[in-house]
Amino acid sequence: MTDPRATPKRWQRFLPKGLFGRAFLILIAPVVILQIVITLVFIQRHLDGVTRQMSETVAMELRSFAAVVERQPDIADVEHVLAELSDSIGYPLSFAEDDYIDPQIRRPFYRIAARALIETLQSLIKHPISVDTERVPKAIDVKIQLSKGVLTAQPPERRMMSANPHFLLVWMAAVSVFLLVIASLFLRNQVRPIKQLAVAAEAFGKGQPAPSFKPAGAEEVRRAASAFLTMRSRIERQIAQRTLMLSGVSHDLRTPLTRMRLALAMMDDDPDAALLSRDVDEMERMVDGFLAFARGQEAEEVTPTDLRAVLDDVIEGGRRLGHEIISALPDPLSPEGPDTTLSLRRDAVHRCLRNLIENAVKYGGGKVWVTLDAEPRRVTITIEDDGPGVPEALREDIVKPFFRGDAARNQDSGGGSGLGFSIAMDVMRAHGGDMVLSDSAHGGLQVRVHFPR
Ligand SMILES: Nc1ncnc2c1ncn2[C@@H]1O[C@H](COP(=O)(O)OP(=O)(O)OP(=O)(O)O)[C@@H](O)[C@H]1O
Ligand SMILES: [Mg+2]
Repeated sequence: MTDPRATPKRWQRFLPKGLFGRAFLILIAPVVILQIVITLVFIQRHLDGVTRQMSETVAMELRSFAAVVERQPDIADVEHVLAELSDSIGYPLSFAEDDYIDPQIRRPFYRIAARALIETLQSLIKHPISVDTERVPKAIDVKIQLSKGVLTAQPPERRMMSANPHFLLVWMAAVSVFLLVIASLFLRNQVRPIKQLAVAAEAFGKGQPAPSFKPAGAEEVRRAASAFLTMRSRIERQIAQRTLMLSGVSHDLRTPLTRMRLALAMMDDDPDAALLSRDVDEMERMVDGFLAFARGQEAEEVTPTDLRAVLDDVIEGGRRLGHEIISALPDPLSPEGPDTTLSLRRDAVHRCLRNLIENAVKYGGGKVWVTLDAEPRRVTITIEDDGPGVPEALREDIVKPFFRGDAARNQDSGGGSGLGFSIAMDVMRAHGGDMVLSDSAHGGLQVRVHFPR
């Protein structure tokens, strides 16, 4: 089984983890890219065209002024004519007699209007020109070399550019932010039912009381949610039926057993009675085992429990019976020790660990090793022995209810009913964990149980 929370690939680490983030990215990425493309391509070209046309007008004005000046027979009139023209056109015009220009042109890339004007001037005016973009703020200083002197004009830049081109961009950004906020509100509502389903399924998987919820949201999500709810109630019903049946059988067996015990008590001193009495004892123990298995862990509440302490308790119990148990558990007093507190059914987990350690004692070579590892996502307990182990082919069978190995059957001290592993497995499953059997480095069986956090 692959862990859904396994470490993601390198590039996936940069993506949002949740559905909301991902859906939002899917929504926002095309919008942003579209806006950038539109801004760069369309608006740029449109503004370029407008600027070109406007600067052409200015260039044509300047050309006609130059022609007017050239045509004046008397230089003395030029000043007067230019003053009149300047008044009507709205920017300064002047003439310097017998002057010469240095026809040099600098065109900084950021002065879009100046660049357009220079280009059109060069194609429209045959006289040498010089253009200075820096001398006058917000205007362009143009000098035209005429036959009798230099004509200077300072058309303002706004004559060549459309006003407030960024206005459109501001509008676009504002509207998209507004739309994205609305989209995110709707998206959040769609994601909520999926989150609820995930929480309920996770809790059910760990055997914890699941919050009840009503299927909501998009149709697919609603279908998945109601399928989950149906499945959950079916599983709960099946567990209840199994419990009912097993406890019924056990209970019915107990009545004749009690009668037999009474009859045996009457027959004192009979050597056969002693043997029979031992058998009745064993049967009673088995029936108790069945009842415990059937009852399962239903009644018990899940509470935050220190798993390390539970394990320690089981180990201490084993040691008191004289078993050699070598344990490696984190120090409970160390402040930077790992956190081993989980949501557990304490008694069930205690029974599970006791069954496993009992098995290692009973079928092992005398020594048992127990370790606890606290990992970020789970806590693992490993139980090993130095006995003969279990052949691979049998491992699947021995965790089934009522299955007992040959050695166990021949052991008359045993009295086991073949339920130890099944109960342990049951408990682990009910906590959303699992149990793995393998070979131990010490020669015997290795049992690992994983508790998810
Ligand atoms: N550590 C082990 N080494 C070798 N065989 C084992 C080990 N643990 C269990 N087994 C085998 O697996 C069988 C099933 O074990 P399980 O604990 O389910 O039942 P049991 O021990 O026979 O009875 P119960 O636990 O109910 O008293 C055992 O009968 C035994 O043959
Ligand atoms: Mg056992």
